Amino acid sequence: MRLHQSMAVLLGALLAFGWTLSSNPSMAQRKLVGSEEFQVSCAVCHGPDGRGNGSMAGYLTVKSGDLTRLARDNDGRFPFLEVFRMIDGRHEIGVHGTRAMPIWGDRYKVEAAVKYGPYDTETAVRGRILELVQYLEAIQR
Ligand code: HEC
Repeated sequence: MRLHQSMAVLLGALLAFGWTLSSNPSMAQRKLVGSEEFQVSCAVCHGPDGRGNGSMAGYLTVKSGDLTRLARDNDGRFPFLEVFRMIDGRHEIGVHGTRAMPIWGDRYKVEAAVKYGPYDTETAVRGRILELVQYLEAIQR
């Protein structure tokens, strides 16, 4: 009986440890997730390296800017919240009028709603945007 109990405790501890490992991706993995999403959704305008030389850049009426200089243009501090809100875009419309960039918050919401249902959708949307912000923060020069 004692042996079974301690085996159960050990098994529980191992499971918890495994869960911790799998639910906490390393910084390198996180960067990769944001980087893949950036290549799929953003590079067409912002360029594969984020410097504004995407294949669609020539067709934009508003310049898409250099995303590797966001910190430099902001006194050396990466403007985390502004970047987050800019990508999300759902709050920006009223402030700046129309904009050239797609409203990613709306797009991700439509995709997430199918997968996660009404309660977890907003969490999933913010997670995806956060991955992108962290990726952009990592490519500042
Ligand atoms: C259709 C072209 C297009 C795509 C695709 C696009 N953007 Fe943009 N982005 C722009 C333009 C144009 C601007 C300049 C502001 C505006 O919308 O008028 C901009 C601005 C930004 C800014 C603010 C830059 C600054 O100097 O403040 C960030 C951050 C940004 N985009 C991130 C992203 C991310 C992340 C993605 C992918 C999820 C993305 N963009 C996809 C066109 C695009």
